[in-house]
Amino acid sequence: MSVRYIEDKKVFLLNTKHTSYQFRVAEFGFLEHLYYGRKITDTADYLPVRIRHGFEANPYESEKDRTICLDVLEQEYPGFGVSDFRVSAISVINGDGSNCMDLRYVSHKVTDGKYRLHGMPSLRDNGGTWQTLEVLMRDPYTQVEVTLVYGVLEEYDIITRCARIKNAGEQTVFVNAAHSACISFPTDQMDMISFYGSWGHERCAERTPVRHGKITVDSARGISSHYQNPSAILCSPDATEDGGDCYGIALVYSGNFAITTEVNDFKQTRLVAGVNPETLYWELTKGSIFETPEAVITYSFQGLSKMSQNFHRTVKHHLIPPQFIHERCPVLINNWEATMIDFDEEMLVNIAGKAKELGVEMFVMDDGWFGRRTDEYRGLGDWQCNREKLPSGIPGFSKRIHDMGLKFGIWIEPEMVNEDSQLYEEHPDWCIRIPGRKPTRQRYQLILDFSRDEVVEAIFQQLYEEFKDAQIDYIKWDMNRSMTDRFSSALPAHRQGEVCHRYVLGLYKLMEKMTKAFPHVRFEGCSGGGGRFDLGVLYYMPQIWCSDDTDAVERIHIQYGTSMIYPPFVMGAHVSECPNQQTGRTVSIDTRAALAYFGTFGYELDLNKISEEEQKAVSRQVKYYQEHGLVSAHGDYYRLSDPETEREYVAFMSVSNDKKEAVVGYVQRVSGANKGIIYLRLKGLEEQAVYEILELGIKLSGAALMYAGLPMPVIKADNEARVFTLMVR
Ligand code: GLA
Repeated sequence: MSVRYIEDKKVFLLNTKHTSYQFRVAEFGFLEHLYYGRKITDTADYLPVRIRHGFEANPYESEKDRTICLDVLEQEYPGFGVSDFRVSAISVINGDGSNCMDLRYVSHKVTDGKYRLHGMPSLRDNGGTWQTLEVLMRDPYTQVEVTLVYGVLEEYDIITRCARIKNAGEQTVFVNAAHSACISFPTDQMDMISFYGSWGHERCAERTPVRHGKITVDSARGISSHYQNPSAILCSPDATEDGGDCYGIALVYSGNFAITTEVNDFKQTRLVAGVNPETLYWELTKGSIFETPEAVITYSFQGLSKMSQNFHRTVKHHLIPPQFIHERCPVLINNWEATMIDFDEEMLVNIAGKAKELGVEMFVMDDGWFGRRTDEYRGLGDWQCNREKLPSGIPGFSKRIHDMGLKFGIWIEPEMVNEDSQLYEEHPDWCIRIPGRKPTRQRYQLILDFSRDEVVEAIFQQLYEEFKDAQIDYIKWDMNRSMTDRFSSALPAHRQGEVCHRYVLGLYKLMEKMTKAFPHVRFEGCSGGGGRFDLGVLYYMPQIWCSDDTDAVERIHIQYGTSMIYPPFVMGAHVSECPNQQTGRTVSIDTRAALAYFGTFGYELDLNKISEEEQKAVSRQVKYYQEHGLVSAHGDYYRLSDPETEREYVAFMSVSNDKKEAVVGYVQRVSGANKGIIYLRLKGLEEQAVYEILELGIKLSGAALMYAGLPMPVIKADNEARVFTLMVR
């Protein structure tokens, strides 16, 4: 049993293989967090110490006992306005205009299996050892009820959380903050790792000590965004890849989010995570329910590697569509960097033909195939094939690609509309904009109002009609702007604060419909590169384009940060041309591939235009990924260096589940005369097993490779990579 309630102590115990999470019903029904960390068997109700703090506010019922003070009592889900002055988990404007929420325990229930959310993605049960705990709380004055929902997945040390807020009272209320989770830590000695970035520079890991007051990472751009990722890590200051306390949290959500840490003067750190309260104002009429997205939480006392692996395994076995769990993605070629929008059928066939010759498995036609799309300024919203470019339509063209022996993939951007399109001409009110104001444009496009069912349905019908008779194996689902001018013409003035979240619900509705209608199709998420890289998208799509920056050196940092939470097999990673279109840098085609092997491998260039020698390298690379991609991308991933601090080299590796195979990537960052040798200590191998290193023709034990290390070659070039393949024979 992973969930237990100890009746006499009123303590809830949530145990996983290596962790314990505990809270209790405290005085007057407050729900008090007790402990989260390495597994213990005692109840942790001895930990809270009630003492006076000075200038403290006390609940009315505590009478003259001034030791009960919500400003230090660690509530599981603190409400705004009743004397816990730290960041709240929930804030509600009540019918009388007051703004407070005083939640007290009512009842609870434990069930086997995993709960589901309504209309939002969440981790899948998939036969794991899940249990669900639901704890009902109520504000006695307004009768607003909050059910705290916990999912406990024993084998991967995962706890999921969300909250269901129900208006069981008479008067309408407005929710203006409702986080998915709140976690308390009895220390102010913690580092926070978050993932900042921008277009072309996504998910750079940034580590900083928490400090008195708040630190918030968030997005108000309508999407989870390039700028901050909806995930964070809190760790002990001494935490490394291999040791130290590491708590990770990631939201299964693709819209505006906020993750805040707050430290007070009593050595307490609080973390809340959920929908961004700045863009939420939700009408809750009598009887209605607001459900928060899910937060996925894990803890490791064995450092960052183990914490990441907990997430990676969970994403694989309990999040992505199950039909793709054990399947390697086909090696693809995408025409975007080769042609941009301006192509015709023969150009595409020419690119596909060469790719086929070199062993590539799938051709993906990117932006430019539909409606009036002759440049970036028109066409979005009209998902009918542009017959001037492709005379036989998508069915005919996809057949032609299939007849060449390739699978076929296609690009869409279903959430968008250009003013120069038939859709906009017919339905100018279907986009998000404020009547009477000129809307902000981004890439000359507007966002469709997916808070409206009829808009979602119309786009689905268009795509379904266009694709139903075609031979489509893969769809790249793009989203190329931030949300501004937030307004839906279908909602009254007092409900405009619902638009952003309703948009995300509409988006999930379309993703659900599309993935159900085309279950065999492998979808790839994308948003101007990696602007919507989150667990919400991964529920529907087994991979996401990591970044439009395909430069191998830049990818070192992007893939490093991304790997903290997300597994390599979901990271879209392609070899592109050099000089690189984004950075102008030239590195060898082998270095480009060495990075891309640790992701969903593919190409993003015209292979006709590279040298014969490079073409031979491409054939070799495709074969390599076909043979070892299930290890390099799907194995247990280890970061062997931190590229933010180690300037000389970068290394990473993946080990197969049975530990019989491993792939190591090594990049010498800077060359230098008269250099010393770098001994790379590998990780995750079987000590006793003997591994043959195919590229070196030598055999060594796992112990030697892990504890003594492997000497790396001195290479006379900057940014030159080597890949080592280890096999137990
Ligand atoms: C975005 C994507 C690119 C490409 C273009 C097409 O920027 O990230 O990969 O698909 O859109 O317009």
